[in-house]
Amino acid sequence: MADPDPSQYNDFAQLYRDVVEVGTPCAEVERPAVLKMLGPIDGAEILDAACGSGPLIAALSRSGARVCGFDGSPAMVELARERLGNEPDLRVHDLSSPLPYGDRSFDAVVCSLAIHYVRHWTPVLREFRRVIRAEGRVLLSTHHPFRVIDGAAGLYLETTRIDDVWDLNGTPVPISYWRRPFQSMASAAQRAGLMIRRLSELDIGGSGQPHFLLLLLHPDVEAGDAATGSEVET
Ligand SMILES: C[S@@+](CC[C@H](N)C(=O)[O-])C[C@H]1O[C@@H](n2cnc3c(N)ncnc32)[C@H](O)[C@@H]1O
Repeated sequence: MADPDPSQYNDFAQLYRDVVEVGTPCAEVERPAVLKMLGPIDGAEILDAACGSGPLIAALSRSGARVCGFDGSPAMVELARERLGNEPDLRVHDLSSPLPYGDRSFDAVVCSLAIHYVRHWTPVLREFRRVIRAEGRVLLSTHHPFRVIDGAAGLYLETTRIDDVWDLNGTPVPISYWRRPFQSMASAAQRAGLMIRRLSELDIGGSGQPHFLLLLLHPDVEAGDAATGSEVET
């Protein structure tokens, strides 16, 4: 089955920004956790992959980082420009295509709540690995694989495309993404020459149920630049 259209947010970009950016689990739980896990960033050069309307770029810049970003939706990039002005380098780009940045250009790549739109993570993570420096890091946040999603068919160990409908303040919006088991995420990282340094499972309001998964990945120096790993991404 094909990946969802990288510009699927075009149809509801403004609504998404207005509804999700304040007072939601993304704003109140996930984003602060991403910033905390990234650690000190003053003076760091950071790529925000799938930056949306740019809330993370704004937060990282306030903490002294130099940040550039891209997103697959031209409408989201337009909203990011509205927020951030012309200073940051913002581009329209699909996560699943080779990145338009040089080798070892960044101290960190952050990809918040977006990699689940891509079926095959290994090439995406290889590109993240390529553009970070030797001491660099990659921070991913994604839907937790245990999260119960209405309409999700299939078994835990399968990677399944979910064609969902979100309710944005009473407006239904169709949205498609992939749900995968943790072993698929871990083997993609391994095959890309990255190792899991830290992992965090976030719940919402003490529910005891995992909602988001955060992974901090560092280069696996033993794997070198051309990691192949033995585990197959499922
Ligand atoms: C849930 S939003 C998160 C935005 C931002 N990272 C944040 O934390 O606010 C997901 C973003 O992923 C983008 N996206 C979805 N599929 C993509 C793809 N294949 N390539 C690049 N961006 C994509 C969407 O346009 C949207 O802006």
